[in-house]
Amino acid sequence: SKTLRVAVIPGDGIGTEVMPWGVKCLQATAKVFNISIEFEHFDFASCEYYQKHGDMMPANWKEQLIGFDAIYFGAVGMPNLVPDDVSLWGSLLKFRREFDQYVNLRPCRLMPGVKCPLAGKKPGDIDFWIVRENTEGEYSSIGGKMFEGTDREVVIQETVMSRVGVDRILRYAFELAKSRPRKRLTSATKSNGISITMPYWDGRVSEMHKNYPEINLDKYHIDILTAHFVGRPEIFDVIVGSNLFGDILSDLGPACTGTIAIAPSANINPEGKFPSLFEPVHGSAPDIVGKNLANPIGMIWAGQMLLQHFGHTEAADALLKAIERILERSEASVLTPDMGGMGTTQALGEAIEREILSLAGN
Ligand code: NAD
Ligand code: IPM
Ligand code: MN
Repeated sequence: SKTLRVAVIPGDGIGTEVMPWGVKCLQATAKVFNISIEFEHFDFASCEYYQKHGDMMPANWKEQLIGFDAIYFGAVGMPNLVPDDVSLWGSLLKFRREFDQYVNLRPCRLMPGVKCPLAGKKPGDIDFWIVRENTEGEYSSIGGKMFEGTDREVVIQETVMSRVGVDRILRYAFELAKSRPRKRLTSATKSNGISITMPYWDGRVSEMHKNYPEINLDKYHIDILTAHFVGRPEIFDVIVGSNLFGDILSDLGPACTGTIAIAPSANINPEGKFPSLFEPVHGSAPDIVGKNLANPIGMIWAGQMLLQHFGHTEAADALLKAIERILERSEASVLTPDMGGMGTTQALGEAIEREILSLAGN
């Protein structure tokens, strides 16, 4: 099969600490399964780059990246150095929008060996996919300020829902639900309060459902939906939500599985016209930077999603299995503190890398 060309962008903070383990585990998996992957590293899309150049990325970033099959991305944000809206709108959000990565796919799974903060839950009880709209919705640049600096100051930021934009994310979510044994799709809404865009969303959901009569569809307002994440997470299979709702659910979901730090994310341009981007759900975690404490699993699992995306199913399954086996062993010296252990980024990264390589012997 052809060589996969991957642009590696570690970014900021623990992005730079977990990325080496993501790359090592991908390389190990590629070796075992005879997949050819070529990595090229980029130092832009970081706050350090911003401090040197006055911008998060060079003017020709798009030309530099467009020829890659995928972007493997750590995290961006150093709010003490650069305001978050500047660093994120100057990097990650540009990738998502300009590479039309309109699907943000985020699995949420209670893994063996990870202590669940919800009482009585075991692996299998929490196992769903969040399908997040990734290019429009509440994340819009339409709006502005009026009467700035006066006591009549007003700020406005519009939510944008286009028919094309809503329909394409719904179609993706229905298709995903169709491929799952339970064939259940949950739509996140707030049409009782957000009275223009959310009823529109609901209407498009009903319309799309007509094409998928086999899907068990339900919808919840986002407030009670978050409560169900905590109370009855087993009811969920595939959840589809707008950009902001999807964002919130994809931290809450993984938090319900014990740690946000294992959760991965695929920002997909399904047509393959542009590179897709694979990253952990978590951010740059400035509070733990430089301590070798960052959990590398979100990053490594994102690499697993990359393999899956390009059809390397056997390799992807094996990498996920390796992650599961290491977690299942639940050794305090290997698990990072977010999972209750005393391990380091390196110890956990190495354990997974070794587990993958040991497959070669089998
Ligand atoms: P965060 O995800 O960086 O951190 C939240 C908490 O989780 C922190 O206590 C952190 O230590 C912990 N944590 C996160 N990842 C961890 C890991 N791998 N191992 C162990 N613990 C981990 O979220 P935040 O604090 O809201 O944001 C920090 C910065 O990251 C901000 O600049 C924010 O804008 C940015 N951010 C970037 C991305 C991204 O690039 N995709 C995502 C979220 C936040
Ligand atoms: C995520 C992050 C980003 C988002 C931020 C950093 C802009 O929280 O990927 O979930 O809100 O999409
Ligand atoms: Mn988020």
